[in-house]
Amino acid sequence: MGVPAETASPPGAPQHVAIIMDGNGRWARQRGRPRTFGHRAGVEALRRTVEAAGDLGLRYLTVFGFSTENWTRPPDEVNALIDLLRLYVRMDLDRLEREGVRVRIIGDRAGLEPDILDIITRAESRTAANTKLFLTIAFNYGGQCEITRAARRLVADVAAGRIAPEAIDATAFAARLDTADIPDPDIVIRTSGEQRLSNFLLWQAAYAEFVFLETLWPDFGRADLEAALAEFRRRERRFGAVVS
Ligand code: FPP
Repeated sequence: MGVPAETASPPGAPQHVAIIMDGNGRWARQRGRPRTFGHRAGVEALRRTVEAAGDLGLRYLTVFGFSTENWTRPPDEVNALIDLLRLYVRMDLDRLEREGVRVRIIGDRAGLEPDILDIITRAESRTAANTKLFLTIAFNYGGQCEITRAARRLVADVAAGRIAPEAIDATAFAARLDTADIPDPDIVIRTSGEQRLSNFLLWQAAYAEFVFLETLWPDFGRADLEAALAEFRRRERRFGAVVS
């Protein structure tokens, strides 16, 4: 991202929440159902969360939908996850557009199927003028991959004489990430009790507050989002400085 830490939102007023939506598989197993059942319930939780985020006045919501590592899952599950992006955009795009949500997809687009690329372009272009809530879906996303692609862009820009090596700083680097014009997350929430970043927003989460919840993602709703925001308000953010 491009907004330096000192310009992030003041304490108590988070503007950007990022979520690792974890626990779909366990939620399904608890019910004796296939993992894909959990992912479908996960889409319902995403719907509830987008609505709650808008109601609670958040400006940016970023969710981890499919990681560059998820390709190693069984092919049926990979296909189901990709299908869910198709389904989500097909079913929800009209409503998102109407309700002022701007949709962005971040991640590596190389190698994605043409129809997925088409869906991504359509979702982004149809909502491009919206400003109420910026919903970013990380799809085929990995933080290391994103940083590597940014480094490649930077090297290409140096080679083409667009930027001098001495001019490379954190701002120049962040401007070449997928999240270029999105402020850094104030909070990263991970559900299901796991306490890892799993390659999500590695650069951008430098000063994020982490909130780990036991709730499995399909059970997540407004109350959990409010609990995470309340936890954030109890934290003291110092951005590397000391508070006297
Ligand atoms: C982690 O749960 C969840 C995922 C890998 C996918 C998240 C996807 C959704 C919530 C569906 C909505 C997605 C889009 C793109 C609209 P897990 O399968 O790792 O659960 P487990 O840790 O319990 O096995």
